[in-house]
This record gives sequence, C-alpha cells and structure tokens, in this order.
Amino acid sequence: MHRADSTELLEDPSLPADVVATAYSDLARTQRLLGNTAAIFRKLRKSRIPIRRVLDLGCGQGALLEQIRRKLGVDVIGFDLRPTPPSATIPILTGNAAVDPLPFADVALAVCLVHHLSEPDVIDLIRNVSRSCRRLILLDLVRHWIPLILFRVFLSPFLHRINSADGITSIKRSYTTRELRTMAEEAVRGSNARIVHTVAPFYIRQIIEITWS
Ligand SMILES: C[S@@+](CC[C@H](N)C(=O)[O-])C[C@H]1O[C@@H](n2cnc3c(N)ncnc32)[C@H](O)[C@@H]1O
Repeated sequence: MHRADSTELLEDPSLPADVVATAYSDLARTQRLLGNTAAIFRKLRKSRIPIRRVLDLGCGQGALLEQIRRKLGVDVIGFDLRPTPPSATIPILTGNAAVDPLPFADVALAVCLVHHLSEPDVIDLIRNVSRSCRRLILLDLVRHWIPLILFRVFLSPFLHRINSADGITSIKRSYTTRELRTMAEEAVRGSNARIVHTVAPFYIRQIIEITWS
C-alpha cells in the first residue's frame, strides 16, 4: 500500500469550534478503546527516571494530559498546531512541534501525530524533542491492510463522522514499521540515544521509545 497524500477532515481550520471539540472528545474515547491510552500509561509507569513534567505533542485539546495529571499527579503541558480553545483546563502552547522551540519536560509524548508529518519533519521532530526532553514516546498507526480492515468493520460505524473518515485516512497515510524505525535511527544517528520499537498484535499500533542519556 502506497502512503496516501491526503489531509484529514479535522485539519480543516474553518471547522466550527463545537464540531472540533466533539471530534477531539470522540478521538480520546477511540484512543481508550484501542488500548492506546493504556499503552502510554504502562510506559509512563515503567519510567526509570522520575517524571515531574509530561509534554504532549499534537495533544489536540489535552484529553490525555488531563488523565495523566489526574492519575499520576504530575505537571503537564500540551503543544499543538491548532490554537487552544478558551475552555482548556491545561496549558497548551500553539506551534509546529517539528521546528518551534519546545518546553522542557522529563518525557514527551506524540500520540497519532507523526502520520501528519512528512519524513523530513518526523526526523526534525525527534531532533527537536532531544533539545528539551530526555525521553520521547511516539505512538502511531501502522500502514497495513489488517488495521485498515479491522478499523472499517469494528470501529468506524461507531465513531463521530469526522473520526470515522479520518481514521481510514490516518491508517493510509501512516508509516510502515520499517519506515518509522528507519526515520528514528536517522534522527538519532551520532547521538547516544537508545531506541526501543514495539508493534502491537494485528499492527494496531507501533511505539517508538527514544531515551537520550
Ligand atoms: C490525530 S490528532 C491526535 C490528537 C491526540 N494526540 C489524540 O491522540 O487524540 C493529531 C494532532 O496533531 C496536531 N498536529 C499536526 N501537525 C502538528 C505539528 N506539526 N505540530 C504540532 N501539532 C500538530 C493536530 O492539530 C492534531 O491535534
């Protein structure tokens, strides 16, 4: 399957605020259903370095960070291209995570962000994170026919219309396990970083964890 060159409905800057809020809230529910939220919590709880502050890149409206702050009692900060709604209950900075200066944190997360980026931008994002964080947990989809079929049959009918369409586009524009691993290796070449790459059953997600020592 070739990588799709298309944008997602939620990327449309002219969408009304209430539609955007509903879509992000449904997306947070989808991340829980898929086990992605639990996978992030497992990684955070297993951290060898103490975590005082978590940065979420491409955080949307901050649903994951709200849960992290509540359950782990740590400081949180979000970063997203889309301006923060006035109703946000956590601090969210606006900018491009691949190029703009990022705030300091013990760990940075990027959940379903990198399929939005080109290959050079994924490499830039990883290098950008290394300037302000010692650890990056990058969770994303896998471009593969198995998750595409599973999503279409079991999940898509129950989702908000935007997330139903965007889910399919997202899988088609995501990176294969080999592509993402190659980009991570290129990004950290010459540094002392350690990469751990895991792929969930049926290719429903992949996680690249990078630690700079
Ligand atoms: C599919 S949504 C995922 C939202 C959230 N992480 C989640 O999993 O529910 C992707 C998010 O990444 C943001 N985004 C896309 N490109 C970005 C960039 N270059 N820098 C920062 N955020 C970006 C979008 O605005 C959007 O909120």
